[in-house]
Amino acid sequence: MTQGTIGVVGAGQMGAGIAHVAALAGKRVVLVDVTPDLAGKGLRGIEKNLSRQVEKGKVSAPDRDAALARIVATADLSRLAEAGLVVEAIVENEGVKRDLFARLDSLVPPLTILATNTSSISITRLAAGTKRPDRFIGMHFMNPVPVMALVEVIRGIATSDETTEAVLALAKELGKTPLLCRDFPGFVANRILLPMLNEAFFAVHEGVATPDAVDGIMKLGMNHPMGPLTLADFIGLDTCLAILKVLHGGLGDDKYRPCPLLVQMVDAGWHGRKSGRGFYRYDGPGGEKLS
Ligand code: CAA
Ligand code: NAD
Repeated sequence: MTQGTIGVVGAGQMGAGIAHVAALAGKRVVLVDVTPDLAGKGLRGIEKNLSRQVEKGKVSAPDRDAALARIVATADLSRLAEAGLVVEAIVENEGVKRDLFARLDSLVPPLTILATNTSSISITRLAAGTKRPDRFIGMHFMNPVPVMALVEVIRGIATSDETTEAVLALAKELGKTPLLCRDFPGFVANRILLPMLNEAFFAVHEGVATPDAVDGIMKLGMNHPMGPLTLADFIGLDTCLAILKVLHGGLGDDKYRPCPLLVQMVDAGWHGRKSGRGFYRYDGPGGEKLS
């Protein structure tokens, strides 16, 4: 079912990462974004990350070139008509995702699996907006996709066993370790991660410590590879806020209330590393952290 072409919609940091690992695993990939420029930007990011892997001796130069040759980057959604599975990785907004899935549902063949990389939104509700809830599933990759081993696989209430088996097999083909969970707000990864990040936002908001100190304490004290504020900037503060709203609304507990400082920063357009400013400043969108 997942043989042949993989479609990826959204060529941001996650969509580009998913296209990267799928192409490297030998899949043909159609990578779609809203404009040719954005799709091209995603492809250039993949080229840069693959070249980094070549420099580190993890990927050979011919394998990089072959992987790049397997990716078509386009703004034309109709190019997905040949895909056996489409992974959606667009903005974390239920309405926008539902609109996209309605279009995809009428475009791709009836047997094609629709998967979402959502961080938190109900798989069951997204699936209910299509005519194929049995062939709809959550396939939650972690950031950065080429490096992180996990794919959280989330079954909606109507997801079939065949769809689940096909997606578990695909995740393994991509070199990942899939772990299954049920469809509850934030699933497992973000139900546990985001309250910790939110607590770090509150620590800064309440003047308990500076961002550098909060991050240093968690890195040196807990052996985390990144401090929580660096990680939040890396994920995207807009995405962090969207996930917290789903947790707060869906689980109904005030312990998930998004920190007002986070809300204000997102209102200001400070979306973290991808916008050039978050808890830290970067040398441009997606750039290196400035000291
Ligand atoms: N593509 C390919 N390779 C990459 C890469 C990318 N985008 N980003 C990093 N790498 C590679 C580097 O080349 C390097 O490879 P080697 O081990 O061969 O040297 C390796 O990853 C480590 O990178 P760096 O040396 O540059 O930097 P680092 O040691 O600080 O590691 C990191 C970077 C892997 C991102 C590490 O800081 C880390 O693990 N951070 C935490 C990431 C995390 O928690 N992710 C989950 C986020 S939450 C989520 O994804 C779910 C959600 O819904 C929000
Ligand atoms: P991003 O902002 O980097 O990229 C989103 C991309 O989607 C943009 O390029 C945008 O132009 C494109 N897009 C928006 N609407 C579109 C549409 N209708 N059709 C085609 N393209 C469209 O976001 P991201 O960090 O890559 O996150 C994407 C998804 O992955 C979200 O659902 C997010 O919650 C999830 N996710 C994010 C992370 C993370 O760490 N950032 C980790 C796991 C899952």
